[in-house]
Amino acid sequence: MQDHIFSDIPVQYKNIADATSKLSFNMASDLHTGSLLKTLVASKQSGRILELGTGSGLATSWILKGMDKNAKLITVENNPLLLEIAKQQLDDTRIDFVLADGYEWLQNYAGEKFDLIFADAMPGKYDLFEETLSLLKTSGFYIIDDMLPQPNWPDGHAQGVEDFIILLEKRKDLTLTKLNWSTGLIIATKIHKKFSR
Ligand SMILES: C[S@@+](CC[C@H](N)C(=O)[O-])C[C@H]1O[C@@H](n2cnc3c(N)ncnc32)[C@H](O)[C@@H]1O
Repeated sequence: MQDHIFSDIPVQYKNIADATSKLSFNMASDLHTGSLLKTLVASKQSGRILELGTGSGLATSWILKGMDKNAKLITVENNPLLLEIAKQQLDDTRIDFVLADGYEWLQNYAGEKFDLIFADAMPGKYDLFEETLSLLKTSGFYIIDDMLPQPNWPDGHAQGVEDFIILLEKRKDLTLTKLNWSTGLIIATKIHKKFSR
């Protein structure tokens, strides 16, 4: 099996990547993560999806590819330049592009809960984790990448990552799998209270 060969890259992906390469953006999600997101999103019929940290929309394009016609995505980004690329390339009524600070958005969101959350920014992952998990439906997926050492990690981040993994593993309302693949992924599923460990 050749896992670096992708037969189904979203049509918008190349344009997004080209536009992104003109900016000094070094935090883009990779193809493996995108492909996994597409497949997990496709498991959620009429799914409600949340992405925290749109960037320029690389992962968003994969998420969109996994969505059925009734699915909805909210994607939150605080950098208008990056978000504009995503908006232009992924013009689709199923996507709500939100230009906002993720910290504020998470603390003010009062809408329907989500079937899948891709937390790809500090808010939703290392910060406001409890608030974020409260927005996930039972049986919903919580997905994070960049859990293996990355060249752009600031000093001290590695310890924060280790601490966060311990926190995730201790949660009784989550069951999770760690993947030493791509940039280091964790897929967690929220368990029904009745069945929590
Ligand atoms: C790891 S990158 C996301 C990559 C993106 N998912 C992709 O597919 O390329 C993290 C993103 O979060 C954004 N971000 C950082 N702090 C934020 C905040 N407080 N609120 C919203 N977005 C934030 C950054 O601008 C950056 O685009």
